[in-house]
Amino acid sequence: MPLTKFENARQALAPVSRQAAAEGIVLLRNIDNVLPLHKECKISLFGRCHVDTYRSGTGSGGAVNVPYSISALEGLRGHSSININEELVQVYHEWLAEHPFDDGGGGWAAEPWFQEEMPLTTLVVTTAKQCSDKALVFIGRTAGEDQDNAVQPGSYLLTDTEYDMLQKVCAQFDDVIVILNVSNIIDMSWADTITNKQSIKGILYSWAAGMEGGHALADVLSGDTSPSGKLTDTIAYQIEDYPTSANFGNRDRNFYQEDIYVGYRYFSTFKPHAVQYAFGEGLSYTQFERDLASLTQHGEGKNKALHFHIKVTNTGHVYSGKEVVQLYVEAPQGKLGKPTRALVGFNKTRTLAPGESELIRVTVPYALLASYDDSGVTGYKSCYVLEQGRYQFYLGDSVQAATPIEATLDLDNLLIQEQLTEAAAPITSFERIRPDQQIAQGIYSLTKENTAVRTVDMQERILSRLPESIELTGEQNIKLSDVKSGQATLVNFIAQLTPQQLATIVRGEGMCSPKVTPGTAAAFGGVSNDLFELGIPVAAAADGPSGIRMDSGHKATQVPIGTLLGCTWNTELNEHLFYLVGQELQSHQIDTLLGPGINIHRHPLNGRNFEYFSEDPMLTGAMAAAQVCGLKSAGVSGTIKHYAANDQETARFDVDSIMSERALREVHIKPFEMAVKLGGATTIMTSYNPINGHWGASNYDLNTTILRGEWGFEGIVMSDWWAKMNSPIEAGKEDKSFTSFMIRAQNDLYMVVENDGAERNAMNDDTLDALENHTLTLGELQRSAMNICRFVMNAPVMSRRLVPYEPIRSFDSAEHTESEPVVSINDSISLNCTSNTAISLEVKEDGIYQISATASYDRNSLAQSSCSLSINGEFSMSLPLNGTDGNIQTIEGLQVRLHKGHYQIQIEFVKPGLKLHQLAFTQSN
Ligand code: BGC
Repeated sequence: MPLTKFENARQALAPVSRQAAAEGIVLLRNIDNVLPLHKECKISLFGRCHVDTYRSGTGSGGAVNVPYSISALEGLRGHSSININEELVQVYHEWLAEHPFDDGGGGWAAEPWFQEEMPLTTLVVTTAKQCSDKALVFIGRTAGEDQDNAVQPGSYLLTDTEYDMLQKVCAQFDDVIVILNVSNIIDMSWADTITNKQSIKGILYSWAAGMEGGHALADVLSGDTSPSGKLTDTIAYQIEDYPTSANFGNRDRNFYQEDIYVGYRYFSTFKPHAVQYAFGEGLSYTQFERDLASLTQHGEGKNKALHFHIKVTNTGHVYSGKEVVQLYVEAPQGKLGKPTRALVGFNKTRTLAPGESELIRVTVPYALLASYDDSGVTGYKSCYVLEQGRYQFYLGDSVQAATPIEATLDLDNLLIQEQLTEAAAPITSFERIRPDQQIAQGIYSLTKENTAVRTVDMQERILSRLPESIELTGEQNIKLSDVKSGQATLVNFIAQLTPQQLATIVRGEGMCSPKVTPGTAAAFGGVSNDLFELGIPVAAAADGPSGIRMDSGHKATQVPIGTLLGCTWNTELNEHLFYLVGQELQSHQIDTLLGPGINIHRHPLNGRNFEYFSEDPMLTGAMAAAQVCGLKSAGVSGTIKHYAANDQETARFDVDSIMSERALREVHIKPFEMAVKLGGATTIMTSYNPINGHWGASNYDLNTTILRGEWGFEGIVMSDWWAKMNSPIEAGKEDKSFTSFMIRAQNDLYMVVENDGAERNAMNDDTLDALENHTLTLGELQRSAMNICRFVMNAPVMSRRLVPYEPIRSFDSAEHTESEPVVSINDSISLNCTSNTAISLEVKEDGIYQISATASYDRNSLAQSSCSLSINGEFSMSLPLNGTDGNIQTIEGLQVRLHKGHYQIQIEFVKPGLKLHQLAFTQSN
């Protein structure tokens, strides 16, 4: 049988996902070349995650229904040169049969961070030792949306059982390799303190590596692929040493007192000795040397750049491998103060055989050497400047190991890189840190200063820039395709839309809208008949970021988590991987992926760090641009999220991220800037949280002044799902219904209202009221409608056949087995179920029936759940439900045409959590 389109896409994606998973593995310790494993040596596997291998984190970013997933055990077993102690595997299997994987019921944010570990007896370990030479010890962790990690055993710390396992294994084996199958970095103090620590000869982070993870691990452990991943975060000895620890996790206000000194920028400037494993660290099976071959200047004005040519040589004798060239700068302290190291460029070699060299170019734009003056201390407020003095470059295989090279930029005078305007500054001042006196070479004492505050009058700014309203013309028979083909202008097209239609188009519908691919996160564009008649098709958006989430149960490829992909430091590979993800999206008729996630790893405990790349803005921006480019070349888009500063899950809906304009620009929105300017991003999702008092979706300066004004973004901005907004002028009270504030800020799309709820304003939003009260202008609403239509016009959906949404689906009756108990369609069907159920239904009369259900879900309103309903084995609809705090709600399903006879109804809890109370079929005619 020929493969379907999506089977083809999946087949192309799997090997590249495997390669990425292998390239993101970070080897931190390899004493006595304990790795790679050799055929003649037998290995014992400890820790349940060799069987229950995590492939992702939890929440929206992890919910891909995979066709298969290769565990570490399967990967290692499948490799011809890896020899496993199968007796020990058997011991684990027997124990696991009694202690199955605990998914916490499968519901939203319900899965525990860790799994109960098999307690080891000395006998088990000594028996294993008698027949094997080396031990692999697996430690597993997950994390995800709606819940941060904690400094607790089982989360950031090892549990007692895990510690005991390590101790017992280290007591018997001389060669122990610890494999961290985790979604975030964890405490590593045990590596230096545990009894018999000398036995731990190998440590590697294998992360959550998608469905090809087990194969990738075998590729690296066997030596087929030499590891080339590098840490994208700093691992400090103590969590208290992270500068963000004091403020992380607050519920109301989160002061970004660390300012621009996030991660290694802080540690290298103030506390290098607190670092256990440095940013950029990661070993190979071979060794490399790097030399600066030449440095040249290119471009003029704003576009000036330095080109470093660096010769990388594999100086080893046995293994081939890839190496990452990392280039850091130490900028002069000047008046602003700078971190003593900042990553300004990187690149990865191809696979180099022993003795082989490659000349690698690293381009460093002046823009990356510049700092933003948010207070005017340099005399150039709101400018990116390069202060006078020496810019010394460093090269090496981690931020700590990098050494100065014969390359400097010496400026006699301050250079203005870019003149901008003050935007999104904090409303009230607070203290931020900065370097004070140099106390040793490149190390500074720390002082504090007050941040500058907002001086802009938001009312004046917004009202003076209101767009002109377009005069309403009524229907002129202009279709969206006429605009696409150049026969009509977008302005004339939009002029046809009534205020009611304009208010409808800014509402997306979901989750699991029947108007688009089943189980996806949103439908947007032509969501009403009127809009559809104008030729606006319905586009589909799906999570993201590490594969396609379809809560209908449809299958897709899960690629590795963002952190792992960041650790590859390979932009070309990321671009190619996401080109293939893009093809899979095309095959499922999805127009945009809700990813990549590009918030900063501000603190190791953030539950969603796994979705994001790094603590470094430049590396994050480069990865984001690469993935967005890849998706674009497949014809779809990548929705970069969450703009901005959604870097903790605790109180993510409400906590105000209060930061200086400098930290905002240089750290937190820098990746978004790079994804827009270098990657050409056309879709962006705002964050749940407020930033300096204004909620993400109604933050005018972020969405208009900076994004469109400075960066030239021309696509659509969408809110996060069920987000809140407040006034872009006065800030103040927030609510989900304040869409007028959202539109004023130029967040174009509200995500999401319930299915079929856009036209009837199911969320009771205030768009039309605000138009009437003149607190929103027609021009502002039309501006967002244009942004949406411009996007849809260029999305794949525009090339698909324009098929009207068919609200009524027909089904034929099926054979009935006498033995099955039958319920009548005329009765209300009591189910009270939380797991998969089937019923046999008898229809007494031909007709159209409206399906509805009553359900409850004992979680908050951001928790997502859904079940799928199939009729006679054919998927018919999803019934999505958000947390209802336990209250019973009605979910309206679709209408179905049924004939007299029998039907099999199957209910599948694809995204568990909700409880289905009753199901009803009401005859509509
Ligand atoms: C998450 C987003 C996600 C959306 C749709 C929200 O809870 O924050 O990242 O894309 O749900 O699933």
